[in-house]
Amino acid sequence: MNVLVTGSAGYIGSAVAHVLSEAGHTVTGYDLVAGRSASEARRVVGDVRDHALLADALKAHGVEAVVHLAGKIVVSESVADPLAYWDHNVRGGLALLSAMSQADVGLMVFSSSAAVYGELSEVPVPEHHPRQPINPYGRTKLAMEWVLEDLDRAGRLRYVALRYFNAAGALPGVAVERHQPETHLIPNALAAVRAGVPFQVFGDDYDTADGTAVRDYVHVADLAEAHQRALAHLAAGGASAALNVATGLGYSVAEVVASLERALGHPVPTQPTGRRAGDPPRLIGQGTAIRELLGWEPGHPDLDDVTASAAAARDVP
Ligand SMILES: NC(=O)c1ccc[n+]([C@@H]2O[C@H](COP(=O)([O-])OP(=O)(O)OC[C@H]3O[C@@H](n4cnc5c(N)ncnc54)[C@H](O)[C@@H]3O)[C@@H](O)[C@H]2O)c1
Repeated sequence: MNVLVTGSAGYIGSAVAHVLSEAGHTVTGYDLVAGRSASEARRVVGDVRDHALLADALKAHGVEAVVHLAGKIVVSESVADPLAYWDHNVRGGLALLSAMSQADVGLMVFSSSAAVYGELSEVPVPEHHPRQPINPYGRTKLAMEWVLEDLDRAGRLRYVALRYFNAAGALPGVAVERHQPETHLIPNALAAVRAGVPFQVFGDDYDTADGTAVRDYVHVADLAEAHQRALAHLAAGGASAALNVATGLGYSVAEVVASLERALGHPVPTQPTGRRAGDPPRLIGQGTAIRELLGWEPGHPDLDDVTASAAAARDVP
């Protein structure tokens, strides 16, 4: 298929473009960032808020489906500057959906997030858990899920919203985790090691086995594969769905640090600091629905695979 991948220059988008092209799809990337990876037949440099440019790109490249990853992703930044998040994530999403409607493109895989759930009353969290996000970032993801639900009900589009948990690890030569600013654990721990300073652990007094926060880490290669399966499901006429992309396993910050020490072969000094506002003690997803609907299983559920790939790729540009 001809697939438009927005956010194709980013961490997860690069991995998605790679997996889709390996599966035989023709990928047109779309990102603010110029350049073109080997996985992209071309990259259109543009903003997802640019309706006219999107409409042209969809028509010019015969696009049949869209994987929409572009967006702003830092929770704390979304609290400080909500308008920027609504603008990029929701105005951008609406511009894209409207351009798709105009070009008669009726299939979308959307990057949603575990942030749509908010405070968890059940862990591992199932998809039917109430969606009450507690920050603007999560609200913009939920707003997009609502629009997709409405379009589906109107018979205008079929979609799979993938609710990511913690994307982690690297695909060598393809996707390395690097955000600006970086708020994620593994790249920050590796950066602290490089700088020769202790890695700051946000909170060591949570109600968890070792006091540090527990998360569900999904290898970026597995996450990318979920998009390929979601696309195949839609292309085969499958119904719309919102699915966790989760292993159902949780690892604490202390366990991730210990795993990084094994990968690096030396200690990673840490320094406990206060909890970060809005961080829940445990965030783990139920992964049964995606297994049943898409046949997706995490290929790298072992944390050591995730940290070893990140450690090995840390110097790759
Ligand atoms: N990284 C995670 O753990 C995680 C977890 C849950 C959800 N997500 C979602 O996954 C998606 C990708 O995340 P990532 O970690 O690869 O982030 P990233 O920052 O590496 O990639 C995002 C890409 O989107 C592009 N972009 C941003 N605004 C744009 C705009 N207005 N127009 C065009 N391009 C734009 C950026 O240039 C960047 O290349 C995001 O939608 C994010 O919300 C990520």
